[in-house]
Amino acid sequence: MPRQHLIAPSLLAADFTRLSAEMQMVNRSEADWFHVDVMDGRFVPNITFGMFIVEAMKKMAEKPLDVHLMIVEPEKYIESFRKAGADVITVHHEACPHLHRTVHQIRETGAKAGVALNPHTPVSVLADLIEDIDLVCIMSVNPGFGGQKFIYRSLEKTRQLREMIDTANASVMIEIDGGVGLQNAESLLQAGADVLVAGSSVFSAPNPEDTISKLKAFKAGFDF
Ligand code: DX5
Ligand code: ZN
Repeated sequence: MPRQHLIAPSLLAADFTRLSAEMQMVNRSEADWFHVDVMDGRFVPNITFGMFIVEAMKKMAEKPLDVHLMIVEPEKYIESFRKAGADVITVHHEACPHLHRTVHQIRETGAKAGVALNPHTPVSVLADLIEDIDLVCIMSVNPGFGGQKFIYRSLEKTRQLREMIDTANASVMIEIDGGVGLQNAESLLQAGADVLVAGSSVFSAPNPEDTISKLKAFKAGFDF
């Protein structure tokens, strides 16, 4: 059976002067999740928004919120983001010296626990954690900004991670974040991706809803 993949439009690329209309478009569309990028100006060289805005987004969202924390010491804010409405909470491997504790802290709130890997971090760092997490986010750009060029090496990382997950017989989703669009979605799905985050390729498209449908229609790899 082909795996059914998920599409998570990244609100970072939305027009914030009309956030409600942009979110209604995603609600109407075939998208599965909202991807929400929280940046602190310390872990990444950019600042976006915090839990108050996430709480407002939650009121408009009819689909789960996939909250990507690009912040230092994320363990201090996990409960707050969960209370604000996060359904998936992803922290960065590079920001967590006690990652095992942090992912369990996320799971204890009832949210799904994700770990994001920067482009320079090999998937092998997750070998002893693969059964403790629900999602791995492979960063296919350096985090901090939307609209960057896809780093080609991420395809090979996706294949390696797929193999690690399948060998462990673990149930972990592979999410790809950064530079994803109609030009590379199919290769990523064939390599083993389960969730495609798409920011500028959706919100800058002439017809965002149609672009979401096209991303959703690509064929994924096979589950044996
Ligand atoms: C980058 C963010 C991404 C970003 C993706 O730091 O984590 O989620 O919004 O944007 P695009 O799809 O434009 O590369
Ligand atoms: Zn992101």
